[in-house]
Amino acid sequence: MKSIHQLKDQATHFFLFLLVLFLICTGIFLPHTVQSEMEKKGDPAFIFPEDANKGWKLFLSKNCINCHTIWGQGDGKIGPDLGRIHISHLSEGQLATNIVNHLPNMWEKMQEEGIRLPSISEVEMAELFSFLYFIRYVDEPGNPDDGKILLSSKECIRCHSILGKGGNIGPDLTRWGIYINPIVWAQQMWQHAPRMEQEMEKKGMSWPNLDSKDMINLVAYIQSIGGKIQDEYHLEPGSPARGRTLFVEKGCKDCHTIEGEGKHQGPDFGKIEFPRTLAGMAALMWNHSPEMMKIMKAREIPRKDINPQEMADILSYLFAYRYFDPPGDAQRGKKIFEEKNCVICHTVGPGGRDGSIGPNLGQLRQVTIIKVTQAIWNHGPSMMQKMRDYGFSWPVLKDSDLNDIVAYIQSVSLQKE
Ligand code: HEC
Ligand code: HEC
Ligand code: HEC
Ligand code: HEC
Repeated sequence: MKSIHQLKDQATHFFLFLLVLFLICTGIFLPHTVQSEMEKKGDPAFIFPEDANKGWKLFLSKNCINCHTIWGQGDGKIGPDLGRIHISHLSEGQLATNIVNHLPNMWEKMQEEGIRLPSISEVEMAELFSFLYFIRYVDEPGNPDDGKILLSSKECIRCHSILGKGGNIGPDLTRWGIYINPIVWAQQMWQHAPRMEQEMEKKGMSWPNLDSKDMINLVAYIQSIGGKIQDEYHLEPGSPARGRTLFVEKGCKDCHTIEGEGKHQGPDFGKIEFPRTLAGMAALMWNHSPEMMKIMKAREIPRKDINPQEMADILSYLFAYRYFDPPGDAQRGKKIFEEKNCVICHTVGPGGRDGSIGPNLGQLRQVTIIKVTQAIWNHGPSMMQKMRDYGFSWPVLKDSDLNDIVAYIQSVSLQKE
């Protein structure tokens, strides 16, 4: 497992920085078309940090938008909606593999549509990655009508009122509409869960489980009636490094394992699949709250308060941890390089001679996943032509394959020095 220092070293393309920026959640930037759509619907805001914003502009200028919608927004229906991609495609390596696998079909469609293959620089590819990563990480807009129904079906309304209507055991939730920040929801729920649980026990109710959709719908409803949104928390950028320290200080590590260390009372964060979005994370912490509290009571672990800033730090740590792939396996990479026929056309050094058909990949200085994806994007059509000439089909790669290939190319380039 990687340490946070290694994670930081890897953040050459500002991903971490960007992740952190996102967690500020104070600014509201929206891509234009999506923005105007949402204004029409009166939906709450979405947050795009600077790099992802640049990625969004590229998404327009490189004509990606001609074929892809985002959360159903846009006219391009030729390719899949990129806001709704499979949950496992979250890390950098998975995102890259996903793009590379789909390239031939994309080119074919581009030819059909008379769209020229846009050339993409390394920096631009990094910005597109930020954008694609973000739209999966931020939640889709919630549905206020569904949220209204949930408040009754989950029986929140037995204890809470909205605009003065409902139970009075808990506070009126109308005020809650001012929080646009999912981190604040997660923090509030953590903070208030113990008392809520007591009250539910008194009433003989069981803990209502929520999923990420429930969470965003509830909030969308409360926001829709809550009047003007003005988030009263202005969080600093979430810091993965601070989050790592807090993970120990707040006792999380007394029960959870991360980076291969810690206890096993709760799930090992190196092994479980986290939810895709922040609201999903908030829902998860809500659902597991009673179980966590039971163990805390039994083991007399005091429950520590967490403020919104601390929650931002802890979540940024958990999300950063997930974004970066574990170190690639160079041995495995070498095997894939052979199995997928790359070796037939490419050399990877040390002599630096080109392969008989394709270039020496050791020449790609400081190979990274982004760089390889970018190179394949730009050179792909000629490469595919060569593959056709030789009777090979486009290789289908699996999750970590590209990560391992990059590790292999790196290991060979290092030998050279
Ligand atoms: C001419 C239409 C077209 C254009 C332009 C286009 N794409 Fe695609 N894209 C497609 C099609 C079609 C697929 C699905 C291919 C397949 O099923 O193999 C796809 C697939 C993808 C996927 C994988 C999606 C998934 O569900 O796994 C990503 C990521 C992607 N495109 C990103 C981009 C980016 C970034 C750009 C702009 C630089 C772009 N596309 C431009 C048509 C296009
Ligand atoms: C059995 C009663 C009960 C039920 C059911 C209940 N709550 Fe609560 N809730 C409370 C109480 C009591 C508090 C105040 C806890 C405290 O002060 O720590 C509270 C606090 C909250 C807060 C913090 C509010 C604030 O202004 O600080 C939120 C948000 C919240 N509940 C959401 C929900 C949601 C969403 C549901 C339904 C899924 C729900 N609650 C169901 C009793 C309940
Ligand atoms: C006393 C032990 C304990 C402590 C302390 C603790 N947890 Fe947990 N946590 C658990 C247990 C047990 C579960 C599984 C609960 C379940 O399955 O319902 C869990 C589940 C979770 C989950 C859901 C994981 C999943 O996918 O199932 C998250 C997220 C989480 N904890 C975060 C935290 C954070 C952040 C902290 C520190 C602020 C923390 N926990 C402190 C015991 C603990
Ligand atoms: C049939 C021969 C062939 C096969 C098989 C092949 N390639 Fe290529 N590859 C080429 C050619 C030819 C080019 C140069 C295209 C150009 O000049 O535009 C190229 C270019 C590249 C580039 C860009 C290099 C640069 O210097 O910018 C990368 C990266 C790459 N290939 C990776 C791979 C990987 C990874 C595999 C295996 C999964 C693979 N190739 C399989 C022929 C092939």
